[in-house]
Amino acid sequence: MKQLGVCVVGLGFVGGQAHAPSVNKIKNAKLVAVCDMNDKLASKFSEKYGCKKYLSVKDALRDPEIEAAIIAVPTPFHFDVAMSFIKAKKHVLLEMPLGVSLAQSKKIVAAARKAKVTLMPSLNFRFAPIYQEVKRMIEKDKVLGKGPAAIHYREYISANLLAAQWPPTSWAWDKKRSGGPLFTLSVWSIDLFRWLLNADLKQLHAVAENHKLPKYGGTHGYMGYAVMEFTNGTIVSGQYSGGVCKNQTLVQMELIGENTNILTAVDTHTIKLNSDEVHETVKKIEVSGPKVWGHYQEVEHFVDCVLKGKQPRITPEDGLIATEAGEKIARMYRQL
Ligand SMILES: NC(=O)c1ccc[n+]([C@@H]2O[C@H](COP(=O)([O-])OP(=O)(O)OC[C@H]3O[C@@H](n4cnc5c(N)ncnc54)[C@H](O)[C@@H]3O)[C@@H](O)[C@H]2O)c1
Repeated sequence: MKQLGVCVVGLGFVGGQAHAPSVNKIKNAKLVAVCDMNDKLASKFSEKYGCKKYLSVKDALRDPEIEAAIIAVPTPFHFDVAMSFIKAKKHVLLEMPLGVSLAQSKKIVAAARKAKVTLMPSLNFRFAPIYQEVKRMIEKDKVLGKGPAAIHYREYISANLLAAQWPPTSWAWDKKRSGGPLFTLSVWSIDLFRWLLNADLKQLHAVAENHKLPKYGGTHGYMGYAVMEFTNGTIVSGQYSGGVCKNQTLVQMELIGENTNILTAVDTHTIKLNSDEVHETVKKIEVSGPKVWGHYQEVEHFVDCVLKGKQPRITPEDGLIATEAGEKIARMYRQL
């Protein structure tokens, strides 16, 4: 069986915890190398997976065994790193947002088109089993009648988790360098709404506030709200709140059907359906590891498409649309 030679670039939160273990398990992929400027991390993962390690992109580019790169470096470095791999004719699965701005993201997309390599944005929510099941229940079981009239989505990240992942000096807080946290975090849900509704974003309005969290080493808290209308008429409110009390990290999506039913996806493992007839039906989603948020499935799809010369289901344009919407929300973020 032909295996695609893959290098995971950036071994932090998502590269190290989700992408590298996924590539390692996918049959038609071979984790040829890992790359991170942090030698400790690069050594740890190259030992764990028995693959080569590179401390710089320049060295990784010279490796002919690397046919594709999964790029999970901080957003401010996406442009340089992605452009280098694309110019070297390597296929790229690029973390989101694609670049730090829409203009920069468009350049990455144009370069991939010119080089005739596959560029797939990492919009993993579409592959998460819980959202796949929500989509199936709406489209096949018609649990919301003609569909959702409204969606309320909220993403709560607890302050202790935020401080551990993004200390005050992190790239994520610097609006000039990275677009700020609301840009970084809103792109996946916006893409999720487009995919669930088979519709495009018609209008979006956002407000946000920021504050410091002295109890958590001065890391930043934020509360961002976006109200959206989609071309099919569904209205969506998205609430992105970073800095809630301990253990209250929660992603929840409530979909209100035009038939009065309410479908709720609670985090990653529980779906509830409320109706006039049955107060509540609860469905559990059995999944674990990097499949929970769809990372494994998206890498599997990327690898399969590259090997078969097919266009992935998630296109560079999907990445640009989510990036543009994320930019509108992020405009409201005030630099602390
Ligand atoms: N899809 C998802 O679920 C998801 C979740 C979180 C973050 N993200 C995105 O993934 C990207 C990375 O976020 P993170 O939270 O994992 O970041 P992180 O800060 O935890 O890790 C980034 C890693 O990249 C390394 N690095 C930085 N510059 C490099 C370079 N030039 N060459 C090689 N290595 C380099 C760092 O040493 C670090 O280990 C961001 O774009 C973010 O928006 C995606």
